[in-house]
Amino acid sequence: MAKLYVNPKRQLGHINPELQGHFSEHLGRCIYEGLYVGENSDIPNTAGMRNDVVEALKEMRIPVLRWPGGCFADEYHWMDGIGPKESRKKMINTHWGGVVEDNSFGTHEFMELCRQLGCKTYVNGNVGSGTVQEMSEWVEYMTFEGVSPMADLRAKNGHPESWKVDYFGVGNENWGCGGNMTPEYYGNLYRRYQTYVRNYKKGEEIYKVCCGANSDDYHWTEGVLKTTHDHAGNAHGFMNGLSLHYYTLPNDTWDKKGSALDFDEALYYRTLKKTLYMEELINRHGAIMNQYDPEKKIGLIVDEWGTWYDVEPGTNPGFLYQQNTMRDALVAGINLNIFNKHCDRVKMANIAQLVNVLQSVILTEGEKMIKTPTYHVFNMYKYHQDGELLESCVETQEIGAGELKVPNLHESVSLGKDGLIHVTLNNLSVTESYSIDAVFTETEIKGVKGTILTGEMHAHNTFEEPDAVHTEIFDQVEIAGQSLKFTIPPCSVLHLAVEV
Ligand code: AHR
Repeated sequence: MAKLYVNPKRQLGHINPELQGHFSEHLGRCIYEGLYVGENSDIPNTAGMRNDVVEALKEMRIPVLRWPGGCFADEYHWMDGIGPKESRKKMINTHWGGVVEDNSFGTHEFMELCRQLGCKTYVNGNVGSGTVQEMSEWVEYMTFEGVSPMADLRAKNGHPESWKVDYFGVGNENWGCGGNMTPEYYGNLYRRYQTYVRNYKKGEEIYKVCCGANSDDYHWTEGVLKTTHDHAGNAHGFMNGLSLHYYTLPNDTWDKKGSALDFDEALYYRTLKKTLYMEELINRHGAIMNQYDPEKKIGLIVDEWGTWYDVEPGTNPGFLYQQNTMRDALVAGINLNIFNKHCDRVKMANIAQLVNVLQSVILTEGEKMIKTPTYHVFNMYKYHQDGELLESCVETQEIGAGELKVPNLHESVSLGKDGLIHVTLNNLSVTESYSIDAVFTETEIKGVKGTILTGEMHAHNTFEEPDAVHTEIFDQVEIAGQSLKFTIPPCSVLHLAVEV
């Protein structure tokens, strides 16, 4: 019997709701079709936003949405996406699939979507191919209320009131698609561009995100912080966050990443092993940040993460459309547990991407919509949002196929805003169930409610079988004073809401 220890007396940090954030790019069928169908569509919509998708995302309590990219952000000129739709510029989306971008979804539409979702806004600015003036005017357009050219233009376009920009990214992947810069060059640009990301409203200060590293590029983190640290470490509002991108690719090569549906046990464990690497990345980038920012004022913002497979056969290679199985559910559960455990440094994380692209929570086909296994994990983990991380650990064994070993169990625990203790426990084994004795230090347990997502590792939802993978009530839990005893089935994500 494996022991899971929970110490309700030790709170280790606040879990920002934004750790469960999302990302939407002008890429494939994410924005167009997935989120936005236009007011004249036969698909039920409100101001062009799909009602079914909005409803599902609200249920999952989406806390924040990043937009418009990604690589698209550093090619995006926001003025192309405002004003009467018929006169908005049409162009080729050179990055993603070479399709026509008609700019019918722009700033007003993004803000309307976030309003409908009730979530925070994370806008990513253009450093790679945009000017300081362009960035500065975008911020003015969105957030300035009063007499100014951009505020007047916004009013002329139908929105006299300003919006709230919660997060603003100063460029994206500027080491790559965002301009192929060196860390020192970008660091200097960051200093300059962010100066003009003005805070116009007291109490609505913008959280500025500096472009951070790809995966284990510690040289980038070091170089950017070295170039900016005379400001970064001490002037609040200069740099609030530093990003990190890390994708889980089952194989190491970009041209043969592996299939979303066709994989064996060895590749399943390899995928989870590579997912667990996120913890090392957070620790090591965090260690560099500690040198410049020992008080942890700057958040690590993991604003792109998730599985990245070969596209589904027969789909546009530039659209990055992939299916989503129980393997992805485990990837989501592990990452969200890791973010919880590092909530002292990680302040936001955004899975890529929201709908129809990479590890999506939702897939659509015409008027049909399905929730993926990853959706169900977010829906189970939502109770951690705004909670306090509790000290916990679980006894594990090494399992796996071949030389790549992973722990069999993976957990995080929080004291929720609702006063309940929320335990999320993953069983990574494809074949084994485990008996668990969950011990709550000096705490009598009054009640427990469980929900489980479990299935064969390939299990997934399709438009023909939309509920093949779904959550179920898990009531096989015995309360024994200060402990809970239960058996967790193979390949599963479990949520227990514990009353103490
Ligand atoms: O999410 C897909 C792409 O991955 C993003 O546009 C880019 O930032 C990253 O390389």
